[in-house]
Amino acid sequence: METKMIKKRIAAIAAGLLACHCLSAVAADARQVEVMHWWTSGGEAKSLSVLKDELKQKGYSWKDSPIAGGGGEAARTVLRARIASNNPPDAMQMLGFSVQDYAEQSLLNPLDSVAAKGGWDKLVPAPIQRFSKADGHWYAVPIDVHSTNWIWANKKIFDELKLTPPQTFDELVADADKIRKAGYIPLAHGGQAWQEATIFDSAVMSAGGPKFYTDAMVNLDTRAIGSKTMEKAFEQMRKLRGMVDPNFSGRDWNLATSMVITGKAAMQIMGDWAKGEFTNAGKKPGVDYLCMRYPGTQGDFIFVTDQFATFKAGTDRQPGENAFAEAVMDKGVQARFNQVKGAIPARLDVPSDGFDECGVKSMNDMRAALKNGTMVGSFAHGQAMPESSKTAMYDVVTHFFNSNQSSADAVKALVTAVENSK
Ligand code: BGC
Repeated sequence: METKMIKKRIAAIAAGLLACHCLSAVAADARQVEVMHWWTSGGEAKSLSVLKDELKQKGYSWKDSPIAGGGGEAARTVLRARIASNNPPDAMQMLGFSVQDYAEQSLLNPLDSVAAKGGWDKLVPAPIQRFSKADGHWYAVPIDVHSTNWIWANKKIFDELKLTPPQTFDELVADADKIRKAGYIPLAHGGQAWQEATIFDSAVMSAGGPKFYTDAMVNLDTRAIGSKTMEKAFEQMRKLRGMVDPNFSGRDWNLATSMVITGKAAMQIMGDWAKGEFTNAGKKPGVDYLCMRYPGTQGDFIFVTDQFATFKAGTDRQPGENAFAEAVMDKGVQARFNQVKGAIPARLDVPSDGFDECGVKSMNDMRAALKNGTMVGSFAHGQAMPESSKTAMYDVVTHFFNSNQSSADAVKALVTAVENSK
C-alpha cells in the first residue's frame, strides 16, 4: 500500500516537473513563429528569406514548415491534418476562399488591430482585401499579387526564328509550328491539374474577355459556362496540348520553366512566379527572356494573391503572430520580396523602382484593371469560385487536356460539374 502511495507521489512529482519543463519550452517557443508554405522552388525559397530576415529583426525566429507541391494542394492537405490533430502552424500561406472558410470555423486570429495600426484598409486594393477579410474583419495579410495570363519566352529562340510576341491565338499557333520545325519544344508544360487549370485561366479570358470570364468563372452563370465562347476556350486548350512534349505528365512547374531557361523549349504559360526562376538563374527580361501577355488578354489581369493567415493558438503566441503579420506588410519587405518572387506588392504605395520591366508592366496592368473594374481572380488558384466548384472544374479541364474529348462535350461536362458542385 505504502509503496503504491510512494509510486503515485513520484509520478505526481514527475508530471509536475514535466509540466514545468513544458511551460518553459512554450515560453521559449513563443519567440518562434512556425510558418507553413509551399515555396520550395529556387526562386520561391530565395524570396522567403526576405521575410525571414524581417521577422528576425523583430526578435522572432522562423520555424520553417515547407510542403513541396506547386499550387499548394499538398500543403493544404497537410494543414487539414494538422488542424484535425489540434496542432495548426502559427501562420499558413493561403489562397482565395480558404481564408473565409477557416475564419468561419473560428480558427483564425483576427488581425484587425495590426491592420488598423498599419492602415491596411487604405493600402490594399479592394479585390485583394476581399480575400483577406471575412465578415468585415482582417484574417489574412497579403504579401504579393501575381497574375496568371503570362507567356514566358526564350529570347534566343524568338530572335533566331524572327518571332515577335503573338498578338492573337492564331499567331501563337503559327509561331508554335515554326518553333517545332526548328527542333525546339514550343510549349513547356507540367501535366498536373493545377497547371492545366492555370492555362485555362488564360484561354477563358482570351476567348471571351473580362466580362465573360467574370460571368463564367466568378458568377458561375450556367449560360456563360455552357456557351460557344467556352467551347472556344477548350479549342485553344486542344491546340496548346499539341504544343507540348511527350514527357509533360506530372512535371513540376519549375522544371518546365527551366526548359525555357535552358533553351529546350520556347515558351511557358504560367503565373509570374516563373519569373522568380529566371531571376534566380541570373536571367534578365528583354535580354535572356521575354514576358508577354497570353494573346487576346493584353491589359487583362487575372490575379492570384498569396496571403498568410495566423491561427488562434493562445495569448502567448499572439505577439509572434502579430509581429509576423506586420513583417509581411512592411513596405520594404513587399518591395524586396516581390522583386525576387516575380510578383508585385499587395500594397499600392510601393514605388516601382527596382522592379524589372515585367514587374513594371504588371503594376501598370493591375492599376489599369483596378480602374476599369476588370481585375479578376484566378480560377486555377482559388480566387474565382469556392473550393467545391473549383475542384469540379479542375476535373473537367484536366480530363479534357489528357484525352481526345471534343470541346462541345467538355462544355457539357463543365456545366454538369459546376451545377452539381453548387
Ligand atoms: C502561388 C504562388 C506559387 C505557385 C507555385 C501558386 O499557387 O500563389 O505563390 O509560387 O503556386 O508554387
